[in-house]
Amino acid sequence: MAQRIRVSAPHGEDYDIVIERGILADAERLVNEFGLGGTVAIITSETILDLYARPLAQSLPNAKVFAMADGEQHKNLATFTMLQRQLAEHRCDRKTTVVALGGGVVGDTAGFVAATYMRGVRLVQVPTTLLSMVDSSVGGKVAVDIPEGKNLVGAFKQPAAVLIDPTVLATLPPVEYRCGMAEALKHGLLADVTLLEPRLHAPDQIEAFLERAIRVKVDVVEQDPFEQGLRQTLNLGHTFGHALEQVSQYAWKHGEAVAVGLVAAARLSSRLNLLDEQTATQIEDLLAETGLPTHFHQYEPEALWQAMHTDKKWQSGHSRFILLEGMNRAVVHEDIPKEEVIAVLASMRRDE
Ligand code: NAD
Ligand code: GLY
Repeated sequence: MAQRIRVSAPHGEDYDIVIERGILADAERLVNEFGLGGTVAIITSETILDLYARPLAQSLPNAKVFAMADGEQHKNLATFTMLQRQLAEHRCDRKTTVVALGGGVVGDTAGFVAATYMRGVRLVQVPTTLLSMVDSSVGGKVAVDIPEGKNLVGAFKQPAAVLIDPTVLATLPPVEYRCGMAEALKHGLLADVTLLEPRLHAPDQIEAFLERAIRVKVDVVEQDPFEQGLRQTLNLGHTFGHALEQVSQYAWKHGEAVAVGLVAAARLSSRLNLLDEQTATQIEDLLAETGLPTHFHQYEPEALWQAMHTDKKWQSGHSRFILLEGMNRAVVHEDIPKEEVIAVLASMRRDE
């Protein structure tokens, strides 16, 4: 059954998230209901080009397709500049709608292009990974990475709509599906334990699962759209996760790094006597049962600690971690001693 979630956003930029099988193939509605009848710039990745971008472009009256290379290592300023120049070469104007069609890498990059091209054009997010459906397409954060850190250059750009067609998940590689589960389970830990129940993970429950996972994020971004406080809790596991991505030069996928980060956050919470050990173990078991990594090889805890310093939540060198004081009780903690963090990381490092 189709679902629609209305999101209140600042400055009256409210938008709908539509979860509906087949919505991507319904050109009439895309044009009449979601404003894709004018000039449309579909920004996508090489993998999505033939699968979904070309068919979508052919069904719309005036759409052009621009493809970036796949992978986090291409979510950068070079790709951003290339896309900006391509839009200009193809005479895209202020009335152009950018459609971000792909996973979170495309959504973040294309979103930042839309936020800045001609000082901002309309953006429609069409996420095609589980991760981008439950997380990155919602809430308006768009960014690219620079060598000094992840997501360090970006903007807040609310989409005019988020269109989710769950049928596209059929082509998603299992490892990418698991990555999306990491963010969805994070939402379960933050605010909705139903998301942790295996019954909701069955393929025939996907719409209900998506809706519940998205509602957790919507609830937070409506209260704190510019991350002044509460929204920081959505970064549960991300301080560790981003460090792992960065130190591995993005060999680690975001969702897998977040899974390890969730284990680290649970272990650190337990070590600081905020969370009972049993709950921390339950979280670790749940991630392992989902097929997600719960430890890492190779990297030095000290190197991970250094990489954490580019975390945007940290201020003037003061550390800031999102920790759990129980299920659905995430709290921001500052100035956690380095030795505690290093001890947790050392406990998660396995010899190959
Ligand atoms: P991704 O965008 O790299 O996609 C993963 C892979 O799946 C890619 O190779 C892609 O081409 C392929 N793919 C996508 N959809 C497919 C489909 N339907 N069928 C077959 N293949 C498909 O990775 P991701 O996990 O979607 O996104 C991770 C990114 O999202 C990171 O850069 C992360 O920082 C960002 N993120 C942003 C926010 C935010 O609020 N803006 C939140 C969470 C994550
Ligand atoms: N993914 C964290 C946020 O959107 O704030």
